[in-house]
Amino acid sequence: MEFRRLGRSGLTISEIAYGNWLTHGGQVEEDAAHACVRAALDAGITTFDTADVYAGTRAETVLGAALAGQRRESIELFTKVYWPTGPGRNDRGLGRKHVIESCHASLRRLQTDYVDLYQAHRYDPSVPLEETMTAFADLVRSGKALYIGVSEWNAEQIAAGAALARELGIPFISNQPQYSMLWRVIEAEVVPTSEQEGLSQIVWSPLAQGILTGKYRPGEQPPADSRGGHPEAGQSMQRFMSDDLLGRVQQLRPIAEDLGLSMAQLALAWVLQNRNVAAAIIGATRPEQVQDNVAAAGVTLDADVLTRIDDVLGDVVQRDPSKTARG
Ligand SMILES: NC(=O)c1ccc[n+]([C@@H]2O[C@H](COP(=O)([O-])OP(=O)(O)OC[C@H]3O[C@@H](n4cnc5c(N)ncnc54)[C@H](OP(=O)(O)O)[C@@H]3O)[C@@H](O)[C@H]2O)c1
Repeated sequence: MEFRRLGRSGLTISEIAYGNWLTHGGQVEEDAAHACVRAALDAGITTFDTADVYAGTRAETVLGAALAGQRRESIELFTKVYWPTGPGRNDRGLGRKHVIESCHASLRRLQTDYVDLYQAHRYDPSVPLEETMTAFADLVRSGKALYIGVSEWNAEQIAAGAALARELGIPFISNQPQYSMLWRVIEAEVVPTSEQEGLSQIVWSPLAQGILTGKYRPGEQPPADSRGGHPEAGQSMQRFMSDDLLGRVQQLRPIAEDLGLSMAQLALAWVLQNRNVAAAIIGATRPEQVQDNVAAAGVTLDADVLTRIDDVLGDVVQRDPSKTARG
């Protein structure tokens, strides 16, 4: 495993991080979830990402149990707040009441006294940013969150958050966007602003939810044991399922083979070539996937390889910065 600093901070994280959206408490049974976490730890992954909302809060419970007994100082535990976790009007968003309550609930489920990084899962335009950042500052000062990050904020929102964080004297160090060979919307605005403000990206769906492993083929049904073949989990990957896109992804196979890499390793190495990316967060339904994916750490891709990839993918790549996800 290789490690990078997260933003302009003293926190070191593993280049490949493990996340449990859709898997723990959802698509996979508890035994398989524990086996994947074990494989992640064995492969040198130290960074684990979850959220209060995943699997209706069950994902944090599963991760907490899977990591129980690990030396707390040897892992970095990240969670998030924003999406609804209950029926109440204050069970959502970035108002002070929900931010503080949801953090306490996450700590209970994760069986820990603090998270290393607490992230705003989206921007909340309905709450004054000062209120949110002050709530985060109080969590930092009380030792419940060591660092603060955000997810899917645009460049303007990141700059505003950074200005308040400076005023409050709290470490605001990361953004968590979708980023892959196919989804490059952060490159034009979010990355330059983040570099200026001292934030790194911790990127989600670096495999485009499995598309970039090459297992989805044009004109064929998704494999039955894959996310794409799952009635609920597969919904969120429909945008990548056109025959044109899947056909182009198949043409990446010889590029990976020439380098002695699996397609998953090529895709993960690709996001890590961007020096503003501190980690690629992978999901996994089985330990073999974790073992395949971790080998992408430390791989360098030459400029001619990057050009070949761009030539193959052509205009299926999404680059429009306005596609940053909204709450
Ligand atoms: N901040 C946000 O808004 C946000 C949103 C989404 C995700 N995230 C974070 O990012 C993490 C990763 O997202 P993701 O799960 O979409 O990432 P991903 O790594 O792009 O996709 C993971 C899925 O691809 C398949 N896969 C992984 N490795 C494989 C391999 N080597 N060979 C074949 N198939 C493989 C597995 O699904 P199957 O086996 O089922 O096919 C796995 O669950 C999440 O867990 C979460 O922590 C954050």
